[in-house]
Amino acid sequence: SNDPLVVFTPSGKRGHFAKGTPVLTAARQLGVDLDSVCGGRGICSKCQVSPGYGQFSKHGVTVAPDALSEWNSVEQRYKDKRGLIDGRRLGCQAQIMGDVVIDVPAESQVHKQVVRKRAEARDIVLNPSTKLFYVEVQEPDMHDPSGDLERLCDALRDQWQLENVTADLQILQTLQPALRKGAWKVTVAVHLGDDENPARIMHLWPGFYEGSLYGLAVDLGSTTIAAHLCDLQTGEVVASSGVMNPQIRFGEDLMSRVSYSMMNEGGAAEMTRAVRAGMNTLFDEISTEGGIDKGMIVDAVFVCNPVMHHLFLGIDPFELGQAPFALATSNALRLRAMDLDLNIHPSARVYLLPCIAGHVGADAAAVALSEAPDKSDDLVLVVDVGTNAEILLGNRDKVLACSSPTGPAFEGAQISSGQRAAPGAIERVEIDPVTKIARFKVIGSDLWSDDPAFLSQIGASGVTGICGSGIIEMVAEMRIHGIVDAPGLIGTAEQTGSANVFSDGRTNSYLVYDGTADGGPRITVTNRDIREIQMAKAALYSGARLLMDKFGVDHVDRVVLAGAFGAHISPKHAMILGMIPDAPLDKVTSAGNAAGTGARIALLNTSSRAEIEETVRNIHKIETAIEPRFQEHFVNASAIPNAVEPFPILNS
Ligand code: FES
Repeated sequence: SNDPLVVFTPSGKRGHFAKGTPVLTAARQLGVDLDSVCGGRGICSKCQVSPGYGQFSKHGVTVAPDALSEWNSVEQRYKDKRGLIDGRRLGCQAQIMGDVVIDVPAESQVHKQVVRKRAEARDIVLNPSTKLFYVEVQEPDMHDPSGDLERLCDALRDQWQLENVTADLQILQTLQPALRKGAWKVTVAVHLGDDENPARIMHLWPGFYEGSLYGLAVDLGSTTIAAHLCDLQTGEVVASSGVMNPQIRFGEDLMSRVSYSMMNEGGAAEMTRAVRAGMNTLFDEISTEGGIDKGMIVDAVFVCNPVMHHLFLGIDPFELGQAPFALATSNALRLRAMDLDLNIHPSARVYLLPCIAGHVGADAAAVALSEAPDKSDDLVLVVDVGTNAEILLGNRDKVLACSSPTGPAFEGAQISSGQRAAPGAIERVEIDPVTKIARFKVIGSDLWSDDPAFLSQIGASGVTGICGSGIIEMVAEMRIHGIVDAPGLIGTAEQTGSANVFSDGRTNSYLVYDGTADGGPRITVTNRDIREIQMAKAALYSGARLLMDKFGVDHVDRVVLAGAFGAHISPKHAMILGMIPDAPLDKVTSAGNAAGTGARIALLNTSSRAEIEETVRNIHKIETAIEPRFQEHFVNASAIPNAVEPFPILNS
C-alpha cells in the first residue's frame, strides 16, 4: 500500500492509513489502547502520544521529521494554555503524513497497568466501572420536541457508542441548568453497567470536568474495617485508613456476635447499624485524608467473612451459627450505596465478592483473586489466619477450600498475657540457648529488650503483653530450647536448665519479663497458654492436611500466609510449631493483606469480577466438621511440631 505505515508501541499494533488520518482514529481502528475523555476535541489531553523520529530497525520503519502534520490551532492552543511535555502530541489532532512509530505512554492508556505494591502476587490492569465522557448535546428545538436527557443520551450513543444509558432522579434535578451553563457541552461520569444493570449517569458537570472519580476497596473484618480510596482514572491508592469494627462491643469474635443476635431481639439489626455507622466514619476519614468530596466515590467493593457479610447486608446471621451453615446467598452481589446506608454517592455501585461456603467467605474469594492459586503451576497452600482460618490449596488443575476453627488464640485472646497487635505487644522473641532467658521486641520499638536503651525508650510499662505472632515465636523458641517438650509440657527449672521457669502449682510457667520493680507488668507463659496455642495450630494444620489428603498429595510446593496476622508470622517459627506443613523456608511467603488486595483488583478491574465468580464456582468446598480425618489429624497435630507427620525439611 502507498498509504503511510503506522506502528504503535508498546503494543506493536500496525497498519496503513490514508494521509491526514488523526493518530487517535488510527489507534481506535487498530484497537490500540489510547484514552480520550473529550472525544477528540483537543480539551482533555488524555490522548497524548510520543512520536519517534529516525531509524526504527526493529519495526523496519524510517520516520521522517514531517511524518506527523504541523500543529493545528487546537493543538497549539492547548500547548500554549496548558502546556505539553516536550515531544508529546495530542493524538486526536496530529495527523499521519508519513511512516511513523508512535509510543503510547502509560498514562495515555485506559487499561494501564497499576503500579504493583509490595507483596502483591499479580499485576492489576485498570478497567474501571465508571468513566468520564465529554459530549456536545443537541439544543432543544420547538419543531422537534424531546427531553434534555434524551438528547444527552443520544449524544452519548452517537459520540461514545454508549447504548441505553439511564439516569436517576438526582441527575434529572441538575441536568437542565448544567447543560445550559455549559452551553450544551457537558462531562458525564457514566457507570458502564454490568450483567444486571444498565449504564447509568452518575455525575454531570457543565463544560469539561478536570477532576477524577474514586472508588473504595473495603476489607470488612470482624476486628477492623480497612479501606483503600482509589483514583479510578489512574488506579492509584489516594488514601488508606482503618477503624475498629464497632460491632466488637457485641462480641469479640464471630460466634459471640451470632449468639448476640440469637439472644437479643433486634440484635442483628443493631449490629448492622453499628457496622454501617463505622463504615461511614471510615469513609469520612478517608475522603478527608484524600482531600476529595465523598460524592465523587462512585464505586465500592467489599470483602468480608460470611457473618460480617450477612450483618453488613442486614441479614440475620442465625443460620450461619448452626449446621448446615447455609448462606442466604453465596453469589456476588451488585447493590447501590443507598441500599446499605453508605454516605458516598447515593447511586454508587457496591460490589460484594461471592462467598465460597458458609465458613469461607468473600474475603477468601478475594484472597483467591489476589493469589490466583487457580493460575499457579506449583501446588500452593494459601492460609488466611484469623479466628477462623480460611485455607485454599490448589493449582491450575483444581482448587480446594476449607475453613478451620482456630479460635482467637492467635489474636492474643485466651492467652494469659495475650493482647491484640498494638504498640507495647511483644512480637519477636529469641531465647538464649545457654541462659534460656528470652529477649524480645515490642511493637513500636526497634530495639531488643536487652539493649541498654530499651527501657529508657519505651518505659517498663511500655511492655504490655504478647500478641499472636509473639506467642507463636515464644512457644517455638521454648520448644527449640527444651523448655517445652513435644507433647507441650513446660519442664521444671531443673529439667530445662532455665531459671525463668517456675512452678505454679500443678504445672510450670515461664517468666518472659518482669517489669514490676519499675511499675510494669509481669509477663509469663503458662502451660495453659501453650495448650491454647497447640489447639489453634492443630486446627490450622489439620485443615491444611485435610485438603492435602483430598488433593492426594503429601507435600505442597509453596505456602502463602495471608492476612495482617500472616504478614507478621515468622515462617520458621510457624513451621517449628507445626502450624503449616513442611516446606522449604524460602517457599513460605507472606502476602500481606491479600483480601484487601483482592478487593482492590475487583474495584479497579471490573472484568476480574466475572473471573473470580467463575473461579469460586469451580472451587471444591470441604466441610471440616463432617470429615472424620480432620479429627484424626487434629489429635496428631497438637504435638509440637507434630506427632506423626514428617517434617523432613525442618529437621535437616
Ligand atoms: Fe481529548 Fe485529544 S482526545 S485532547
